Amino acid sequence: MTIALASDHAGFSLKTGLLEYLKEKGIPARDFGTFSDERIDYIDYAIEAVEAVLRGECDRALLVCGTGIGMSMVANKFRGIRATLCLDEYMADMSRRHNDSNCLTLGGRMVPLDEARLIVDTWLETVFEGGRHADRLKKIEELEIKNFK
Ligand code: RB5
Repeated sequence: MTIALASDHAGFSLKTGLLEYLKEKGIPARDFGTFSDERIDYIDYAIEAVEAVLRGECDRALLVCGTGIGMSMVANKFRGIRATLCLDEYMADMSRRHNDSNCLTLGGRMVPLDEARLIVDTWLETVFEGGRHADRLKKIEELEIKNFK
């Protein structure tokens, strides 16, 4: 599984730590920036990472801004992206089991690196349950088709 990583300035430090962590785990990752803590717009970096997922170059995206909110708002504008803001391992677990999350968003000002590592582990390892949850995701997909055509 290849992960597309991106952050803004507020998420830069956490993204850097998580990139290192993925490397340690032997998980391929592509870093779409930003590459410093100079102030930029999270939107532009989210787009790059999410589009790499939609093109099939990466399997999932991991996006970090100050709160994780802005990144999730941008990512969820893209049809086929199921972005979930997770503040703890429980949310990460549920985001996979019930929501089939393919985009994790984190807040660099919300969670320390050690907690973020656990969230990422859970998000990477937990399997989607399907069944009634797949039916619900289908309804969301239908909404995307209806609202974005
Ligand atoms: C930047 O100050 C901050 O607004 C951004 O990182 C993010 O938290 C937006 O949702």
